[in-house]
Amino acid sequence: MEVGGSVALVTGAASGIGEGIAQRLAIEGASIVVADIDETLGTQLAARLPSAVFAGCDVTDDSQLQAAVNLARTRFGRLDILVNNAGGAPDPQYPEAPLEHWSWVVDFNLRSVIRAVQLALPLLSARGGAVVNIASIAGIGQEPHSAPAYAVAKAGVVRFTSSVAFLAERNRVRVNAICPDWVDTPSSRRNREAMTKAELARLPPILSPGEVAAVALTLIQDESAVARTIVMRGGKQPWNLA
Ligand SMILES: NC(=O)c1ccc[n+]([C@@H]2O[C@H](COP(=O)([O-])OP(=O)(O)OC[C@H]3O[C@@H](n4cnc5c(N)ncnc54)[C@H](O)[C@@H]3O)[C@@H](O)[C@H]2O)c1
Repeated sequence: MEVGGSVALVTGAASGIGEGIAQRLAIEGASIVVADIDETLGTQLAARLPSAVFAGCDVTDDSQLQAAVNLARTRFGRLDILVNNAGGAPDPQYPEAPLEHWSWVVDFNLRSVIRAVQLALPLLSARGGAVVNIASIAGIGQEPHSAPAYAVAKAGVVRFTSSVAFLAERNRVRVNAICPDWVDTPSSRRNREAMTKAELARLPPILSPGEVAAVALTLIQDESAVARTIVMRGGKQPWNLA
C-alpha cells in the first residue's frame, strides 16, 4: 500500500508506541487521526504533524470510536489505515482484582480492537486498507505473566488477527499484528521503576517506539502481509509467529 496521501487512525497515539507510529506514518506522507483520551498531549501531537486532527476517544466507548472513524471521513474524506494501539495492564491484577476489572481490561485490550475494525471496515474497504494491531509478547507462549487479564486479552488480539484473514479477500482489508517485548514508553518506564535491580538485569534490551513503528510501516506497505503476527524482542531481528 502507498502510505503517501493515505489517511491513518491511530488509537492511543498521544504518547509511547502510538505516538511513534503516528509520527512515522506522517513522515511517510499520511494524514493522521490522533485518537486518544489525553486531550492535552493529543492536540499537541496533532499540531506538530503536517496533516493531523485530534479525536478525543476512549477506545472502550463504542460511540467515541465511531466518532473518531467519522472524523477521518469528514476531515480527510477517507480512511486507509487503522492502528489499534491503545491498551495496557493497570493494577489491580488477578486474583486480587475484582472480576469487573478483568472485564474492563479485556474490553480495553481486546473488545476495542474487534469493535474498531468493525466500525472502520466500510471506509477501509473503499480503496483497500490495512490494520495493525499492537498486541504483546504477553499474549504468546507459556510463561507465567504478572497481569493475567492483559495476557489473555493480548492472546485474543493475536487470534483475532489470524481469524479475520478472510477480510483480505472479502473486503480488501489486511489485518496484521505486532507482539513487542519491552518498549521504552511512559507506562513501561513506570513499570521498570517499580522493579528490583535483579529483575531489571534479567530484561532484554528495551525496544524503541521507532523500531515498532518501522515494523508497523512494513506490514502496512507489504500487500502480501495478511494475518501475520510479528514478534519483537530487543536485540533480536523481528520474527514471524508461525
Ligand atoms: N510499552 C511496552 O513495553 C509494551 C510492550 C508490549 C505491548 N505494548 C502495547 O503497546 C500499546 C501501547 O503501549 P504504550 O506503552 O505506548 O502505552 P502508554 O501507556 O505509554 O501510552 C498509551 C497511550 O494510550 C492512551 N490511552 C490510555 N487509555 C486509553 C483509552 N481508553 N482510549 C484511548 N487511548 C487511551 C494514553 O493517553 C497514552 O497516550 C499497548 O497496547 C500496550 O499493551 C506495550
